[in-house]
Amino acid sequence: MALLPILEYPDPRLRKVAAPVTAFTPDLVRLVRDMAETMYAAPGVGLAATQVDVHKRVIVIDTSEAKDELLVLVNPQIIAAEGEAEHEEGCLSVPGYYDRVVRAARITFRAHDEHGRLYERRADELLAVCVQHEMDHLVGKVFVDYLSPLKRTRLTAKQRKKQRLAG
Ligand code: NI
Repeated sequence: MALLPILEYPDPRLRKVAAPVTAFTPDLVRLVRDMAETMYAAPGVGLAATQVDVHKRVIVIDTSEAKDELLVLVNPQIIAAEGEAEHEEGCLSVPGYYDRVVRAARITFRAHDEHGRLYERRADELLAVCVQHEMDHLVGKVFVDYLSPLKRTRLTAKQRKKQRLAG
C-alpha cells in the first residue's frame, strides 16, 4: 500500500478526462487500495483517480462516521437524478476552501466494484453530493468551477501564491 500525492488546484492535470476501465486486473485492485488509503489519511470522504494523476474512471468514497464503509465506483454512471439541494463542499485538491454548490438532491447510480461486480444504488444527502462531486473530477471538473468568476479568480490567485511559497 502507498500514499499517493494529490494534485492541487489549479494544476492543469485536474482538467484531464478519464478513460473507462476496460479490464479488472490486480493493478486496478492495487490502485483502489492506494486511493482508499490516501483518502483515509488525508482525511477525506471521497477521492477520484484524476486527483492522483491516474486518468481512469475510478472513485473511492466513504461517508460513514466510522470510516468502515468503503464504496468503490469503477466506470460509474448516474442513471436517475431528481430534486435540487445546496450543500457546502470541500475538496482534497483545494485544501482549506469550502463553498456551497447546488446539485441533484437524489440520484441513482450504477458502477462496478474493483472486482468487476456491477451494482446499483440510490443516494441522497452527503453520499449524493459526493458521487456527483467525484464524477465531475473524472471529466476534468473541480467544484470551484461552479463558483462565480470573481470568487474563482481570487481563489486561483491565492492557490498559486501558496504553491509558490511551498516551492
Ligand atoms: Ni474533489
